[in-house]
Amino acid sequence: GKSSKGYSYETLVETANFLLSRTSVRPRIGVICGSGMGSYWKEGSLAENITDPECIPYEEIPNFPVSTVEGHHGRLVFGKLEGVPVVAMQGRFHYYEGYPLWKCCLPVRVMKLIGVQTLIATNAAGGLNPNYKVGDLMIVRDHINMMGFAGNNPLHGPNDERFGPRFPPMNKAYNLEYRKIAKEVAKEQGIDNIVREGVYTCLGGPNFETVAELNMLKMVGVDAVGMSTVHEVIIARHCDMKVFGLSLITNECVTSYDHDSEANHEEVLDVGRMRQDTLRQYVSRLVQRFASS
Ligand code: 6GU
Repeated sequence: GKSSKGYSYETLVETANFLLSRTSVRPRIGVICGSGMGSYWKEGSLAENITDPECIPYEEIPNFPVSTVEGHHGRLVFGKLEGVPVVAMQGRFHYYEGYPLWKCCLPVRVMKLIGVQTLIATNAAGGLNPNYKVGDLMIVRDHINMMGFAGNNPLHGPNDERFGPRFPPMNKAYNLEYRKIAKEVAKEQGIDNIVREGVYTCLGGPNFETVAELNMLKMVGVDAVGMSTVHEVIIARHCDMKVFGLSLITNECVTSYDHDSEANHEEVLDVGRMRQDTLRQYVSRLVQRFASS
């Protein structure tokens, strides 16, 4: 079932059928938990807040890659958030781990095949927009597929029309209705002072960016930079899933040479920890609102 690029439709149907046989939960909403949203911490995180959880470690899922980042759980959690059936990825696959992009996104196609119609993709990101503060949340309005500019795209290779078209449009990638709802919910929860909306880009990593690179990204209109999400969103839109993206701003990007601080992974984790209650409440309510929209 392995073609030269990616797994065949039939292979992913096998994976989907395995999951459907392991759980009776039938989610229409899938959540990818980025750093701070449940990929790292046991208590209090979003993924740990799922009720009646049924956890399936990635190692047990046929055709799934295995997560290599220390601290990431690497499992699917089926259950309910605010009474809504969901499936959450606790731990995602990053390009810098060595997987090709199509492999990083494989779980998104599997979600589609088990009936998921809405993808909520979360991540930790560096804030490039000078108005952003550490701890802010950014609703993703749009992305710039930097890796795609160099020809690295998860859809590269033969296209299977059963997933979607050869040349999918990307101008409505981040669902407008969901973005409106997210701003309403931010007001309701009294966090509209920390919720922003902006443009995200993904770089391959694993190194953080140079000052010149960050200044270039700033110039082309990037508000936040990370190492995930963009390819997952492309795969989700290709198979016509509705998408919502949310970034947690974990550090300020250093765009000047006379600045002492350096981006580091610990800081990313600390800010995730600091915001985990807010994120859990926010995303839980979003799930509830998206489910009834
Ligand atoms: Cl500054 N850059 C990238 N690529 N990813 C990040 C980040 C920066 N901060 C958190 N994640």
